[in-house]
Amino acid sequence: MNTGPYTCLEIFAKENAALGSVRLLAENQAFIEKPAGKASYAWLKFNLQPYTEYQILCLSCDISLCYLSGNEDILETGVRYLEKNPKTGLLEETNPQAWYSHPARESYHFSPWKNWINDPNGLCWFQGYYHLFYQHNPHGQEWSNMYWGHAASPDLIHWTHLPLVLAPQEEILENPKSLKGGAFSGCAVAGEEEVTFYLTRHKGPQEDCPDTVEQQWMMKSRDMLHFTEETCVISQQPPGASFDFRDPKVQKIGDFWYMVLGSSMEGKGAILLYRSKDMQHWEYLHPLLTEEQAKIRCFECPDFMALDGSCLALGAWMEHTDSCGRYQMSRYYVGTWQEERFEKQQEGWFDFGGNCYAMQSFTHEGRRISIGWISDFYGEHTAYENGAYGSMTIPRELHIRNNRLYITPVREMELLRGRILYEGSEENLCLPQITGNAYRASIKFQKNTFFTVLLGKDGEKSLTLINDRDGLRLETRGVNSQGIRFQAEVPEVRELEIFVDRRTAEVYVNQGEAVGTKIFYSSSPDGCLELKAENPWDIAEAKVMLMYSIWH
Ligand code: FRU
Repeated sequence: MNTGPYTCLEIFAKENAALGSVRLLAENQAFIEKPAGKASYAWLKFNLQPYTEYQILCLSCDISLCYLSGNEDILETGVRYLEKNPKTGLLEETNPQAWYSHPARESYHFSPWKNWINDPNGLCWFQGYYHLFYQHNPHGQEWSNMYWGHAASPDLIHWTHLPLVLAPQEEILENPKSLKGGAFSGCAVAGEEEVTFYLTRHKGPQEDCPDTVEQQWMMKSRDMLHFTEETCVISQQPPGASFDFRDPKVQKIGDFWYMVLGSSMEGKGAILLYRSKDMQHWEYLHPLLTEEQAKIRCFECPDFMALDGSCLALGAWMEHTDSCGRYQMSRYYVGTWQEERFEKQQEGWFDFGGNCYAMQSFTHEGRRISIGWISDFYGEHTAYENGAYGSMTIPRELHIRNNRLYITPVREMELLRGRILYEGSEENLCLPQITGNAYRASIKFQKNTFFTVLLGKDGEKSLTLINDRDGLRLETRGVNSQGIRFQAEVPEVRELEIFVDRRTAEVYVNQGEAVGTKIFYSSSPDGCLELKAENPWDIAEAKVMLMYSIWH
């Protein structure tokens, strides 16, 4: 393995027999060896000579993730991942194109190199790059003690993977059987010269209970590659709030900084409001919002902002099942903000598809952009070797009009427009085999008409968008979510922007009136699109095009 411009090896190693270690060998140099972790994976870092041949030997240990870092233009190039060659047992560079070509891995939605991902964290734009941090288990395809992953993009579309940033607390890594937790969700506030991050540190027993401790911590960075030590800024929840007390989101409104936190108060889901003058000392004010709907364990990942002359609060309903059978939906609330009180006027679902959770937003050049985690609450994921479990929605632009939230894909999605597969009107269309299953379909109707759009089919399994007497909804067949109503809250359908990306479909309705995200796994690398309208002449315009991959 040649290091090229890279000067650091980061490798996560865990003993599989006594005295496991990682040994690094370079020609004419004494070897360097570091012990693997015992109870958990140890995050080992080796300094390397650039443009030098090395051999990495894993002695009695397992490796979960390994990459080269430390080059000057890493924001541009990203890290270089190394994987074990099954024949030689040596860690080698892999071909990323082949790596990303799997029917169950999106090609133009962000996903990690491998393993588990959940909430987007620390979204911001800083000195020329968009930054996306995320909840990550680098060691496996399931939720576990949390790290922060990190990626950067010059254009919101093409991302490079960067070194992991935060790890679970030492105490948790040493006692993974009795403790769980880590670096939970949080946000970034980007200034001109530095970025301030807020996040929750969670530590508690395997089963959440009042012994669980969630505290809010702060850290900073001036280059997004080096981060200061974290300091605790809020160590305890206010009286009446449950131990669920997490996911700080900070923004400035007027002269003050405001932090919202997800929690519950006296048994009701609540978003708590804090205030600060200096970003460091925080005083609790009151709940920004208390949800009267029963059976919500707490709000998670709340967001709050001034937008288009109104105020918008958002939050994810933990452990709640709605009347359509959808689990853990995210809610938005539009209202006014006066004397530090939020007065709700209107509310609705953030995403009707049931697979978008924990969305977070940030502003850049006047735009409010939001990204959500494409979750799998119905257990429909198919794991495969070295696969990723989880991904991020397309970046979405948020607006408020007539007290209602509008959500549209960011205009940068145009960068991914590929070959046109179909263009026409006033006829039904059937594309039974779309090579690569990564496409976008734009459909306009003269007036509301009944239709079905088949978005995925695999034997008896299917995903269909339906508009009929009962309104617009996504419907699955033959998979775990069959029977759940993924219903959109729109009175009629005039326009659809449909993004299908292998296991993920995102449907944008009527220029932002609603969006629905649904995952659907197909064993085939190819996809399909079939539009059947009751009155085909009501199809004013239909266009289907392939989408380029973001991993060039
Ligand atoms: C939401 C969430 C957050 C928490 C994080 C832990 O998906 O449960 O509330 O900070 O994930 O990974």
